[in-house]
Amino acid sequence: MNTPMPRLGMGTWHLAEGRHPETQEIAALRAGLDAGITLIDTAEMYADGRAESLVGRAIAGYDRSRLFIVSKVYPHNAGRRHLRRSLEASLKRLGTDYLDMYLLHWRGSVPLAETVECMEQAKDDGLIRNWGVSNFDTNDMRELFATPGGEACAVNQDLYHLGSRGVEYDLLPWMDAHGLPLMAYCPLAQAGTLRRGLLESPAVRTVASDHGVEPIQVLLAFVLHRPDTIAIPCSGNAEHVRANLQARDLKLSADELALLDQAFPAPTSKQPLDME
Ligand SMILES: NC(=O)c1ccc[n+]([C@@H]2O[C@H](COP(=O)([O-])OP(=O)(O)OC[C@H]3O[C@@H](n4cnc5c(N)ncnc54)[C@H](OP(=O)(O)O)[C@@H]3O)[C@@H](O)[C@H]2O)c1
Repeated sequence: MNTPMPRLGMGTWHLAEGRHPETQEIAALRAGLDAGITLIDTAEMYADGRAESLVGRAIAGYDRSRLFIVSKVYPHNAGRRHLRRSLEASLKRLGTDYLDMYLLHWRGSVPLAETVECMEQAKDDGLIRNWGVSNFDTNDMRELFATPGGEACAVNQDLYHLGSRGVEYDLLPWMDAHGLPLMAYCPLAQAGTLRRGLLESPAVRTVASDHGVEPIQVLLAFVLHRPDTIAIPCSGNAEHVRANLQARDLKLSADELALLDQAFPAPTSKQPLDME
Protein backbone atom coordinates (compact mmCIF):
# COMPACT_ATOMS: atom_id res chain seq x y z
CA MET A 1 0.00 0.00 0.00
CA ASN A 2 1.28 3.44 -0.88
CA THR A 3 -0.73 5.30 1.74
CA PRO A 4 -1.29 3.77 5.15
CA MET A 5 -4.95 3.73 6.09
CA PRO A 6 -6.10 5.89 9.02
CA ARG A 7 -7.53 3.83 11.93
CA LEU A 8 -10.76 5.82 12.10
CA GLY A 9 -12.98 6.93 9.27
CA MET A 10 -16.51 8.19 8.71
CA GLY A 11 -19.19 6.04 7.10
CA THR A 12 -21.94 7.49 4.93
CA TRP A 13 -24.65 4.85 4.63
CA HIS A 14 -28.06 6.46 5.21
CA LEU A 15 -26.66 9.95 4.81
CA ALA A 16 -28.31 12.00 2.06
CA GLU A 17 -31.56 10.16 2.75
CA GLY A 18 -33.28 12.95 4.64
CA ARG A 19 -32.65 11.62 8.16
CA HIS A 20 -30.88 14.86 9.01
CA PRO A 21 -30.87 18.14 7.08
CA GLU A 22 -28.17 18.06 4.40
CA THR A 23 -26.37 21.05 5.91
CA GLN A 24 -26.13 19.17 9.21
CA GLU A 25 -24.69 16.07 7.54
CA ILE A 26 -22.11 18.14 5.66
CA ALA A 27 -21.25 19.93 8.91
CA ALA A 28 -20.80 16.55 10.62
CA LEU A 29 -18.41 15.30 7.95
CA ARG A 30 -16.53 18.60 8.06
CA ALA A 31 -16.34 18.48 11.86
CA GLY A 32 -14.57 15.14 11.41
CA LEU A 33 -12.27 16.47 8.70
CA ASP A 34 -11.44 19.55 10.77
CA ALA A 35 -10.63 17.36 13.77
CA GLY A 36 -8.32 15.20 11.64
CA ILE A 37 -10.48 12.26 10.52
CA THR A 38 -9.37 11.94 6.92
CA LEU A 39 -10.98 8.67 5.80
CA ILE A 40 -14.52 8.70 4.38
CA ASP A 41 -16.27 5.52 3.30
CA THR A 42 -19.03 5.69 0.72
CA ALA A 43 -20.50 3.66 -2.17
CA GLU A 44 -22.31 4.12 -5.46
CA MET A 45 -25.21 2.29 -3.80
CA TYR A 46 -25.70 4.72 -0.90
CA ALA A 47 -28.74 6.88 -1.55
CA ASP A 48 -28.35 6.04 -5.26
CA GLY A 49 -25.18 8.09 -5.54
CA ARG A 50 -26.43 11.01 -3.44
CA ALA A 51 -24.13 10.01 -0.54
CA GLU A 52 -21.13 10.33 -2.87
CA SER A 53 -22.40 13.74 -4.03
CA LEU A 54 -22.80 14.80 -0.39
CA VAL A 55 -19.23 13.70 0.33
CA GLY A 56 -18.12 15.66 -2.75
CA ARG A 57 -19.71 18.80 -1.32
CA ALA A 58 -18.24 18.13 2.16
CA ILE A 59 -14.66 17.68 0.95
CA ALA A 60 -14.67 20.58 -1.50
CA GLY A 61 -11.97 23.01 -0.43
CA TYR A 62 -10.00 20.46 1.61
CA ASP A 63 -6.54 19.35 0.57
CA ARG A 64 -7.34 16.21 -1.44
CA SER A 65 -3.88 14.75 -0.88
CA ARG A 66 -4.60 14.53 2.87
CA LEU A 67 -7.90 12.69 2.43
CA PHE A 68 -8.48 8.96 2.10
CA ILE A 69 -11.63 8.37 0.07
CA VAL A 70 -13.12 4.88 -0.15
CA SER A 71 -15.99 3.96 -2.46
CA LYS A 72 -17.58 0.72 -3.63
CA VAL A 73 -18.82 -0.75 -6.84
CA TYR A 74 -22.01 -2.79 -7.06
CA PRO A 75 -21.28 -6.47 -7.81
CA HIS A 76 -23.24 -6.27 -11.07
CA ASN A 77 -21.02 -3.38 -12.18
CA ALA A 78 -17.75 -5.06 -11.20
CA GLY A 79 -16.82 -6.44 -14.63
CA ARG A 80 -15.30 -5.30 -17.92
CA ARG A 81 -18.60 -3.90 -19.21
CA HIS A 82 -19.40 -1.58 -16.32
CA LEU A 83 -16.65 -1.07 -13.75
CA ARG A 84 -14.95 1.81 -15.49
CA ARG A 85 -18.25 3.60 -16.08
CA SER A 86 -19.25 3.15 -12.42
CA LEU A 87 -15.88 4.34 -11.21
CA GLU A 88 -15.94 7.44 -13.39
CA ALA A 89 -19.46 8.28 -12.20
CA SER A 90 -18.35 7.91 -8.56
CA LEU A 91 -15.34 10.16 -9.18
CA LYS A 92 -17.56 12.77 -10.79
CA ARG A 93 -20.03 12.76 -7.88
CA LEU A 94 -17.15 12.96 -5.39
CA GLY A 95 -15.47 15.76 -7.35
CA THR A 96 -12.12 14.03 -7.39
CA ASP A 97 -9.96 12.34 -9.98
CA TYR A 98 -8.93 9.32 -7.94
CA LEU A 99 -10.06 7.09 -5.09
CA ASP A 100 -7.68 5.95 -2.39
CA MET A 101 -9.56 2.66 -2.15
CA TYR A 102 -12.18 1.03 -4.36
CA LEU A 103 -14.06 -1.96 -3.00
CA LEU A 104 -16.17 -4.69 -4.53
CA HIS A 105 -19.25 -4.16 -2.33
CA TRP A 106 -20.08 -7.86 -2.08
CA ARG A 107 -19.62 -10.95 -4.20
CA GLY A 108 -21.85 -11.29 -7.22
CA SER A 109 -21.77 -13.31 -10.40
CA VAL A 110 -18.88 -11.54 -12.16
CA PRO A 111 -15.85 -13.86 -11.93
CA LEU A 112 -13.29 -12.64 -9.39
CA ALA A 113 -10.54 -12.79 -12.03
CA GLU A 114 -12.44 -10.27 -14.16
CA THR A 115 -12.99 -7.88 -11.26
CA VAL A 116 -9.31 -8.14 -10.28
CA GLU A 117 -8.29 -7.38 -13.87
CA CYS A 118 -10.55 -4.28 -13.97
CA MET A 119 -9.35 -3.07 -10.56
CA GLU A 120 -5.70 -3.49 -11.59
CA GLN A 121 -6.37 -1.63 -14.84
CA ALA A 122 -7.99 1.25 -12.94
CA LYS A 123 -4.96 1.29 -10.66
CA ASP A 124 -2.55 1.38 -13.62
CA ASP A 125 -4.58 4.22 -15.10
CA GLY A 126 -4.26 6.23 -11.88
CA LEU A 127 -8.00 6.28 -11.11
CA ILE A 128 -7.61 4.33 -7.87
CA ARG A 129 -4.65 3.95 -5.53
CA ASN A 130 -5.71 0.56 -4.18
CA TRP A 131 -8.61 -1.85 -4.27
CA GLY A 132 -10.21 -4.25 -1.85
CA VAL A 133 -13.32 -6.27 -1.13
CA SER A 134 -16.25 -6.21 1.24
CA ASN A 135 -18.44 -8.89 2.80
CA PHE A 136 -15.88 -11.57 1.94
CA ASP A 137 -15.64 -14.59 4.26
CA THR A 138 -12.64 -16.89 4.65
CA ASN A 139 -13.38 -19.07 1.63
CA ASP A 140 -13.97 -16.00 -0.54
CA MET A 141 -10.61 -14.61 0.57
CA ARG A 142 -8.87 -17.91 -0.17
CA GLU A 143 -10.41 -17.96 -3.63
CA LEU A 144 -9.44 -14.34 -4.24
CA PHE A 145 -5.85 -14.92 -3.20
CA ALA A 146 -5.70 -17.96 -5.51
CA THR A 147 -6.83 -15.72 -8.41
CA PRO A 148 -4.01 -14.14 -10.46
CA GLY A 149 -3.39 -10.66 -9.05
CA GLY A 150 -5.79 -11.29 -6.16
CA GLU A 151 -3.12 -10.88 -3.46
CA ALA A 152 -3.03 -7.18 -4.38
CA CYS A 153 -6.29 -6.84 -2.43
CA ALA A 154 -5.55 -4.22 0.25
CA VAL A 155 -8.47 -4.51 2.66
CA ASN A 156 -11.60 -6.51 3.48
CA GLN A 157 -14.54 -4.50 4.83
CA ASP A 158 -16.83 -6.63 7.01
CA LEU A 159 -19.36 -6.15 9.78
CA TYR A 160 -17.66 -6.28 13.17
CA HIS A 161 -18.76 -5.05 16.58
CA LEU A 162 -18.73 -6.27 20.16
CA GLY A 163 -22.07 -8.02 19.67
CA SER A 164 -21.07 -9.71 16.41
CA ARG A 165 -17.67 -11.35 16.63
CA GLY A 166 -18.04 -14.23 14.15
CA VAL A 167 -15.12 -12.98 12.02
CA GLU A 168 -12.77 -13.64 14.95
CA TYR A 169 -13.19 -17.40 14.52
CA ASP A 170 -11.23 -18.02 11.31
CA LEU A 171 -11.49 -14.98 9.02
CA LEU A 172 -9.43 -12.55 11.10
CA PRO A 173 -6.70 -15.14 11.83
CA TRP A 174 -6.51 -15.77 8.06
CA MET A 175 -6.37 -12.04 7.31
CA ASP A 176 -3.74 -11.46 10.00
CA ALA A 177 -1.62 -14.27 8.54
CA HIS A 178 -1.85 -12.60 5.13
CA GLY A 179 -1.26 -9.06 6.40
CA LEU A 180 -4.72 -7.93 5.27
CA PRO A 181 -6.40 -5.21 7.38
CA LEU A 182 -10.04 -5.34 8.43
CA MET A 183 -12.21 -2.30 7.81
CA ALA A 184 -14.98 -2.79 10.35
CA TYR A 185 -18.42 -1.59 9.36
CA CYS A 186 -21.31 -1.09 11.80
CA PRO A 187 -18.70 -0.74 14.58
CA LEU A 188 -21.38 0.88 16.78
CA ALA A 189 -23.85 -1.91 15.99
CA GLN A 190 -25.91 0.90 14.44
CA ALA A 191 -26.19 2.71 17.76
CA GLY A 192 -26.76 -0.60 19.53
CA THR A 193 -29.81 -1.60 17.51
CA LEU A 194 -28.14 -4.62 15.88
CA ARG A 195 -27.74 -6.45 19.18
CA ARG A 196 -30.33 -6.18 21.90
CA GLY A 197 -28.91 -5.26 25.29
CA LEU A 198 -25.48 -4.25 23.98
CA LEU A 199 -25.46 -0.64 25.15
CA GLU A 200 -27.37 -1.47 28.33
CA SER A 201 -25.08 -4.34 29.31
CA PRO A 202 -23.51 -3.95 32.76
CA ALA A 203 -20.08 -4.82 31.30
CA VAL A 204 -20.23 -2.04 28.70
CA ARG A 205 -21.67 0.39 31.24
CA THR A 206 -19.01 -0.39 33.84
CA VAL A 207 -16.18 0.18 31.38
CA ALA A 208 -17.84 3.38 30.17
CA SER A 209 -18.29 4.80 33.64
CA ASP A 210 -14.71 3.89 34.62
CA HIS A 211 -13.48 6.02 31.71
CA GLY A 212 -16.17 8.71 32.06
CA VAL A 213 -17.41 8.08 28.50
CA GLU A 214 -20.64 6.95 26.85
CA PRO A 215 -21.30 3.20 26.36
CA ILE A 216 -21.29 3.69 22.57
CA GLN A 217 -17.71 4.94 22.77
CA VAL A 218 -16.74 1.68 24.45
CA LEU A 219 -18.10 -0.19 21.42
CA LEU A 220 -15.80 1.78 19.16
CA ALA A 221 -12.81 1.35 21.46
CA PHE A 222 -13.46 -2.40 21.46
CA VAL A 223 -13.28 -2.61 17.65
CA LEU A 224 -10.18 -0.42 17.54
CA HIS A 225 -8.30 -2.37 20.21
CA ARG A 226 -7.60 -4.98 17.52
CA PRO A 227 -4.42 -4.16 15.63
CA ASP A 228 -4.72 -3.71 11.86
CA THR A 229 -8.37 -2.70 12.16
CA ILE A 230 -10.01 0.40 10.80
CA ALA A 231 -13.45 1.49 12.02
CA ILE A 232 -15.87 3.61 9.99
CA PRO A 233 -18.71 4.73 12.28
CA CYS A 234 -21.33 6.84 10.56
CA SER A 235 -22.91 9.96 11.97
CA GLY A 236 -24.82 12.93 10.68
CA ASN A 237 -24.23 14.74 13.96
CA ALA A 238 -21.04 16.74 14.59
CA GLU A 239 -21.10 16.07 18.35
CA HIS A 240 -21.27 12.33 17.70
CA VAL A 241 -18.40 12.55 15.23
CA ARG A 242 -16.26 14.26 17.87
CA ALA A 243 -17.26 11.64 20.46
CA ASN A 244 -16.19 8.93 18.03
CA LEU A 245 -12.82 10.58 17.56
CA GLN A 246 -12.39 10.76 21.32
CA ALA A 247 -13.10 7.01 21.53
CA ARG A 248 -10.26 6.29 19.11
CA ASP A 249 -7.80 7.13 21.87
CA LEU A 250 -9.58 5.17 24.59
CA LYS A 251 -7.33 2.33 25.74
CA LEU A 252 -9.10 -0.65 27.23
CA SER A 253 -7.17 -2.56 29.88
CA ALA A 254 -6.78 -6.35 29.83
CA ASP A 255 -9.30 -6.57 32.69
CA GLU A 256 -11.81 -4.44 30.81
CA LEU A 257 -11.39 -6.51 27.67
CA ALA A 258 -11.89 -9.66 29.74
CA LEU A 259 -15.10 -8.21 31.17
CA LEU A 260 -16.44 -7.37 27.70
CA ASP A 261 -15.33 -10.77 26.45
CA GLN A 262 -17.21 -12.51 29.22
CA ALA A 263 -20.40 -10.61 28.41
CA PHE A 264 -20.08 -10.95 24.62
CA PRO A 265 -17.77 -13.89 23.92
CA ALA A 266 -16.26 -14.61 20.53
CA PRO A 267 -17.88 -17.69 18.97
CA THR A 268 -16.09 -21.02 19.29
CA SER A 269 -17.32 -22.36 15.96
CA LYS A 270 -17.76 -21.07 12.43
CA GLN A 271 -20.66 -18.60 12.03
CA PRO A 272 -22.21 -17.37 8.80
CA LEU A 273 -20.73 -13.98 7.90
CA ASP A 274 -22.88 -11.27 9.47
CA MET A 275 -23.96 -8.63 6.96
CA GLU A 276 -26.13 -5.56 6.82
N1 LIG B 1 -19.69 -2.81 3.09
C1 LIG B 1 -20.92 -2.93 3.51
O1 LIG B 1 -21.69 -3.80 3.06
C2 LIG B 1 -21.41 -1.98 4.57
C3 LIG B 1 -22.60 -2.26 5.25
C4 LIG B 1 -23.02 -1.37 6.24
C5 LIG B 1 -22.26 -0.24 6.52
N2 LIG B 1 -21.13 0.02 5.81
C6 LIG B 1 -20.32 1.25 6.07
O2 LIG B 1 -20.02 1.31 7.44
C7 LIG B 1 -20.51 2.54 7.97
C8 LIG B 1 -20.91 2.37 9.43
O3 LIG B 1 -21.97 1.45 9.57
P1 LIG B 1 -23.47 1.92 9.91
O4 LIG B 1 -23.63 3.33 9.48
O5 LIG B 1 -24.39 0.93 9.36
O6 LIG B 1 -23.55 1.77 11.48
P2 LIG B 1 -22.76 2.39 12.75
O7 LIG B 1 -21.67 3.29 12.33
O8 LIG B 1 -22.46 1.24 13.63
O9 LIG B 1 -23.93 3.23 13.47
C9 LIG B 1 -24.47 4.38 12.90
C10 LIG B 1 -25.53 4.92 13.86
O10 LIG B 1 -24.90 5.30 15.09
C11 LIG B 1 -25.28 6.64 15.43
N3 LIG B 1 -24.10 7.24 16.05
C12 LIG B 1 -22.88 7.44 15.50
N4 LIG B 1 -22.01 7.94 16.39
C13 LIG B 1 -22.71 8.08 17.55
C14 LIG B 1 -22.37 8.56 18.84
N5 LIG B 1 -21.12 8.97 19.12
N6 LIG B 1 -23.34 8.58 19.80
C15 LIG B 1 -24.60 8.16 19.52
N7 LIG B 1 -24.98 7.67 18.31
C16 LIG B 1 -24.03 7.64 17.33
C17 LIG B 1 -25.70 7.30 14.14
O11 LIG B 1 -26.69 8.26 14.37
P3 LIG B 1 -26.37 9.84 14.21
O12 LIG B 1 -26.28 10.10 12.75
O13 LIG B 1 -27.56 10.47 14.85
O14 LIG B 1 -25.10 10.12 14.93
C18 LIG B 1 -26.29 6.12 13.37
O15 LIG B 1 -27.64 5.93 13.73
C19 LIG B 1 -21.68 2.89 7.03
O16 LIG B 1 -22.09 4.21 7.16
C20 LIG B 1 -21.06 2.53 5.70
O17 LIG B 1 -20.17 3.54 5.28
C21 LIG B 1 -20.68 -0.85 4.86
